[in-house]
Formats: sequence, C-alpha cells, structure tokens
Amino acid sequence: MFDLSRIAAESFVRSIDFHDSLGSTNDRALELAIDPGRSTPCLVLAQRQTGGRGRGANSWWSSEGSLTFSVLVDGLERNLPAGNWPLVSLAAGLAVCEALDAWHVDRELKLKWPNDVFLDGRKVSGLLVEIPDPKLSRLVIGIGINVNNSFETAPTELRAIATAMSDVESRTFELTDVLIRVLTALDAQLRCLEQSSATLRERWSRRSLLTGRIVTLRHGNEEAAGRCLGIDGEGALLLETASGVRAFRSGVVVRYDSQSVEDRASSRPTESV
Ligand code: BTN
Repeated sequence: MFDLSRIAAESFVRSIDFHDSLGSTNDRALELAIDPGRSTPCLVLAQRQTGGRGRGANSWWSSEGSLTFSVLVDGLERNLPAGNWPLVSLAAGLAVCEALDAWHVDRELKLKWPNDVFLDGRKVSGLLVEIPDPKLSRLVIGIGINVNNSFETAPTELRAIATAMSDVESRTFELTDVLIRVLTALDAQLRCLEQSSATLRERWSRRSLLTGRIVTLRHGNEEAAGRCLGIDGEGALLLETASGVRAFRSGVVVRYDSQSVEDRASSRPTESV
C-alpha cells in the first residue's frame, strides 16, 4: 500500500490522483492535462496498471509489486521551453538512475537511449514522455519500474532482458520510499534542465549504455549502423557510421552489441542482443 500523505509531504507534487486499478497512468494523465483546474505537478499513481503502454505499439507489463506512475508537469511553470521537451525523457531516465543508485551501490545503472534504464545489463525501468497538446504547455512523464515484481519465474527469454530491483538485491523494497526518491530526483533533473542542459549532457553521456558499442538504429524507413559515440547536448544519439558521424534525435534501436568495441577487442567475441 502507498502512503499518500508521505508522498504529498515529501515530494514536489501538488496533487495526487490515486487509483487501485487503472488501464494506463499516462492515459489518465493525458485526460487530466486538458483540465485547466488541475494543479500541477500532478502525480497519477496506480496500485495496479492493467494496460500500460510503452513506445510505439509496445505494451508495459506491470505485475504486482511494480511501480507505475505518471507526472503531469507544466512547461511554463517549470520554465521549460518546448525546445527542451525532447530532453525530458533523458532527464527523467537520469533521475531514475540516480534515485536507484541509493539501493544498488556498486551495481551498474545505465541509460539506454532514449527511454530505458538498465540495471546490471537488464531493463529495470521504462519511460514514456507524451505531450497532450503543445498549446497547453503540459507534459506527461510516465515511469514504470520493476521493483518487487520478480522475474525469477518469468520465461527465460524475458529473464535475459529484464529484471527487478528485488531480483538483483534479493530483498523487497517499500514502494513509497522508491517513489519519493524518484520524484525528488526528477524534480532536481527538471531544475537542471531549466538552467542548462550542459551538466546533464555530461551526466547522461557517462550513464549511456550504448556508448562504444556497434548499434543499429531504425530511423523512418532507413537503418543506420555504427559505433555509438554517446549522446549530444540536444539528446541525440551519435553514431560513427560509414558515411561519418551522424546525430539521431529519434529512432528505434533494433540491435546493439553486448560489449563495447574496446571490450570486444580484449576478449573473445560475444553475441549481439
Ligand atoms: C517503454 O519501455 O517503451 C516505456 C514504458 C513506460 C511504462 C510506463 S508505466 C507508467 C506509465 N503509464 C503507461 O501506460 N506507460 C508508462
């Protein structure tokens, strides 16, 4: 059970829309976004999410023990011009990494461009940032984190790519504590974005899972492949392709090597994932 009074007292949200069960917290936040009377930041929180959405046509599997929520923020209130909105997903991903660091000392929390967080090489969190109507200047930041929803009994293929905090640390976590820490980190990252993206750029580049690896990206009808050089200040993925360095602001990573070019050179070859 969530402690809603603690969340209200210890986080930056000004209103909470709580549901025992909800299709998608993002869908609900998109609905609330058009209500001018709704005070922001508004947290939409579901004890159980039955129709979670991911990027594109993907769905988000939210079984018992997972944390699923969306935060409706106002771009004007947060001093976030529309030009900075494409960076919000990375800033929120960084917030999840930095918040989860508290419980995963000495483990690797990485940002997989553009919207995933990986814990020790497997996906632990996914983010979905949506803009209801640019005229409203409001954004929905949807975050799903595998906290106590163990993957230990999940099919082998799923266990190979996804994990939960509880699987990695062999203990369970208080969902309210995890949520408050993530919200606090999110507020801090949005503040950084208000000021300048320069420090964020350095921090998300340091966290980038794909840097140094050979990556294949689908971009519209095109596929581009090359060594990933990191993420630039505009949040674009940099690939060193056969035709030179290219910056991709959007796209879907369809393949990437499991090791960086440097690591591969010093060990035996491994499969792509
Ligand atoms: C992805 O992996 O493609 C993004 C997944 C985002 C899932 C979260 S869970 C809370 C919020 N509500 C949704 O329907 N989706 C996001």
